[in-house]
Amino acid sequence: MNGDWRFRLLPGAPGGAVAVLPDGEAPDAIAEDGFDDSGWDELPVPSHWVLHGGGRYGRPIYTNVQFPFPIEPPFVPDDNPTGDHRRRFALPADFAGAESVLLRFDGVESRYRVWLNGVEIGIGSGSRLAQEFDVTHAVRPGENLLVVRVHQWSAASYLEDQDQWWLPGIFRDVTLLARPAGALDDVWLRTDYHAGRGSIRPEIVAADDAYPMTLRVPELGVEVTWHSASEVSGIDAGPVQPWSAELPRLYDATVASTGETVRLRLGFRTVEIAGDRLLVNGERLVFHGMNRHETHPDRGRVFDEDWARADLLLMKRFNVNAIRTSHYPPHPRLLDLADELGLWVILECDLETHGFEPGGWRDNPSDDPAWREALLDRIERTVERDKNHPSIVLWSLGNESGTGQNLAAMASWVHGRDPGRPVHYEGDYAGAYTDVYSRMYSPVPETASIGRDDSGALLLGCSASESARQRSKPFLLCEYAHAMGNGPGALDQYEELVERYPRLHGGFVWEWRDHGLRTRTADGIEFFGYGGDFGEVVHDGNFVMDGMVLSDGTPTPSLHEFAQVAAPFAIEVADMLTIRSRRHSADSADVVFSWSAEADGEPLASGELDVPLLAPHASVTVARPALPGLPDGAGELWLNVAARLVAPTAWASAGHPLATAQGLIARAPDAPALRWSPAPRDPATGGLGSGLPDVLGPARFEAGRLVELAGEPVRGPRLALWRAPTDNDRGSGFGSYQDADPTLPPWRATPAPPWDARWRAAGLDRMVPRVVSASGSASWLRVRTRWAAANSRLAVVCDEHWWLDERGLALVVDLEPSTGWDLIWPRLGVRFDLPTGIDGASWFGTGPLESYPDSLQAARVGRFSAALGELTVGYARPQESGHRSDLRSLTVRRSGADWLRIDTGPDAAGRLPGFTLTPHTAEEVDRAAHPHELPPSTATRLYLDAAQHGLGSRACGPDVWPAQALAPRAASLRLRFAPG
Ligand code: GAL
Repeated sequence: MNGDWRFRLLPGAPGGAVAVLPDGEAPDAIAEDGFDDSGWDELPVPSHWVLHGGGRYGRPIYTNVQFPFPIEPPFVPDDNPTGDHRRRFALPADFAGAESVLLRFDGVESRYRVWLNGVEIGIGSGSRLAQEFDVTHAVRPGENLLVVRVHQWSAASYLEDQDQWWLPGIFRDVTLLARPAGALDDVWLRTDYHAGRGSIRPEIVAADDAYPMTLRVPELGVEVTWHSASEVSGIDAGPVQPWSAELPRLYDATVASTGETVRLRLGFRTVEIAGDRLLVNGERLVFHGMNRHETHPDRGRVFDEDWARADLLLMKRFNVNAIRTSHYPPHPRLLDLADELGLWVILECDLETHGFEPGGWRDNPSDDPAWREALLDRIERTVERDKNHPSIVLWSLGNESGTGQNLAAMASWVHGRDPGRPVHYEGDYAGAYTDVYSRMYSPVPETASIGRDDSGALLLGCSASESARQRSKPFLLCEYAHAMGNGPGALDQYEELVERYPRLHGGFVWEWRDHGLRTRTADGIEFFGYGGDFGEVVHDGNFVMDGMVLSDGTPTPSLHEFAQVAAPFAIEVADMLTIRSRRHSADSADVVFSWSAEADGEPLASGELDVPLLAPHASVTVARPALPGLPDGAGELWLNVAARLVAPTAWASAGHPLATAQGLIARAPDAPALRWSPAPRDPATGGLGSGLPDVLGPARFEAGRLVELAGEPVRGPRLALWRAPTDNDRGSGFGSYQDADPTLPPWRATPAPPWDARWRAAGLDRMVPRVVSASGSASWLRVRTRWAAANSRLAVVCDEHWWLDERGLALVVDLEPSTGWDLIWPRLGVRFDLPTGIDGASWFGTGPLESYPDSLQAARVGRFSAALGELTVGYARPQESGHRSDLRSLTVRRSGADWLRIDTGPDAAGRLPGFTLTPHTAEEVDRAAHPHELPPSTATRLYLDAAQHGLGSRACGPDVWPAQALAPRAASLRLRFAPG
């Protein structure tokens, strides 16, 4: 039934169910054949009407927890947008022989009423759940008229308060099904795997005339015929290859009744809980998962198979092995793709009542008997629709719905219906009715305490005995690592815990993709809208932009970090090479291990390693390849090792890297880049001296201030403590660690204002200079500048020492804080303002992407180059981006040619600075709410940072871990400048 339907939008009316109708129109007149819809519009089905009509049909609304209507369950406001849909269709001739005709809706938000040929068929609800109506009595040969009236709000909206856009409409397929005599009303083939053999336990719903019925699995030589329902029984399928996310082996099967043939793809696998282990086919499962919403910048939740497949392929390429279908069943085809490509799935029911939490969960449907049937209906429809998929290993009751008897009833229904899959629900903190222990955003020490046997520490919401009960179950993080904007940090810390404590079974990053909706400014500039961009009365801003993939599909640096942390092989490069498989079920036959050596980032030698076949979990130590020595003048010799696919797969081409690692093999202590002659120190400190140089090599100065480098205008260095706050810097999620001992419970740290508020209060974004002293001669210059904010006594002195020696122009900048600084800093560095017209840069340092102290795993040392626009990430809300750690040498390109080269040296502690090259200052970036609001660039900004603060997950979770937080300190930057 998909296609163009007639459509009109009506405002709601008192009483809720019936819309305000045009004058003289009877309430159900649209159902009648003769009704004149010639004045209506056309709307595609499936669609969300708010994403069509350029605003004529209303706009999308984004809220996280908040209900966008008064909380008065089960009532919703009279003003309830109502979409009337009409479609005429000719009944296909071959429907004539049907015994019955069904009308199926795969998804309609949120409540709808259906008529066929003037006959009222029924009412549907459960937006992301399928519903079938028997329309045999109403359908007729020839032309038919299908009418659907959809109300945006309904009692069901109280159960569908997921953190996402509210998008009304018939947004999934509508299908008319001719059902034959002897039909198969339901088929469930449970396919277990034990010790190399598969078994099939069929459960068939069919009338007596459907028999005889034959099950065939040709590849396994299975062919069984049952002559009546009583004969249907389990069979041994013989030796099979099991299904896993790594080796998604499927067997085609058919079940043929007298009336029809159903096709299934069988995957044999057994999910079980053994003590505190979650096992599939006897092996511990570790989720490297993503929370996946259905979201598309133009279509909203309307499914597009090519798009969804591309998304899943991208996941596979980035070592994602699992999906939690947050927070509702996806389009049914998605699960076929997961079966085929290989992803473990936690299939979640369409349920969230989060908006009741701010009211202390009063009237929460999860615990109110009046809602019991509604909740049971939801879980039944969830399980029944998808139970045949081998990829689904857990059922999830829903998300953030508090706790209560109705959730317990849902769990017990699932236990009765499908004992082959454990039940998950995070909100069951005490573990009263769920099979696995699940939490979201538990900080690192808390997660460790969950994993440890010797920790008696009380768990969230648990008594001592409940804590013990939860520790006796497998644990998973249904959400962790909030990927909003630039972040998250600490992925590696969580991974270490999962390696250390077998009770911990990994987790699911929040979340896969930004939910931005493509829209335009009044001037026609296209951008990805978030909450507040559509005139919402209440909204939650850019909290819906928290994906590892941007709205336009670009993987963010955090996804690269994830891929590295979740890599299926752990490779250690030391005197020997150690390779450890972290795979669940596949060996390493599909992988080749290669190496390459680089001297200062230049390729030196490469080859393949002779690595024996590795069984899952096996490890091996092999000799390092013989490497040439460091060439003359080079400073560093690095060995890179990669595990690459030998042959193409469904999701990557041959050569695709599954895992990479790097080790420093040799360093020349006297390599030029690392040689620092001490700066001549000027004993004089007071006043503005005379005799200041105008020119030092490629630099020109005026009154001690730099005005030109390599022939182009350049200003700086200016002290830079401020970064454009990240979403995590702006978050107050779990308080801050600075105010608490993170190793002690409660681990959620002390409530504290977000870092950006504390930084602003301290004036880090508005520090002003005063030159304290300047002195110099023909070969050196020293300038001391004190930087401080209005009404503050706190200062940082920026002490510049410039000098010329036989190697050219050097600059050492000492940054010296005054006493009294008592807060974490965003960054500690300096800024140079370069001319506009910078094309980009090449560098020897870490790359290719940005990195921060708690997100360094994907950064490797090498030579890289990038255009200016590629050096920062287009986060939905502009924020700090582009820092590349451990810079050795940077060459800036201007007008197509290398213009300026900056070499760095390590400070006394051996630390190298990082750099950021961007068209905008941190202050400009901070002021923009969307990328298109950034002002035209007036200079190219080069930040050289002695240190940066970490990223953390505090937008919705833990603060930056103390070891990666930037405590106030002195620093020294060592730089050399030369024309490119
Ligand atoms: C969780 C919730 C998700 C999302 C996330 C924050 O609490 O389950 O749906 O809201 O926080 O982005």
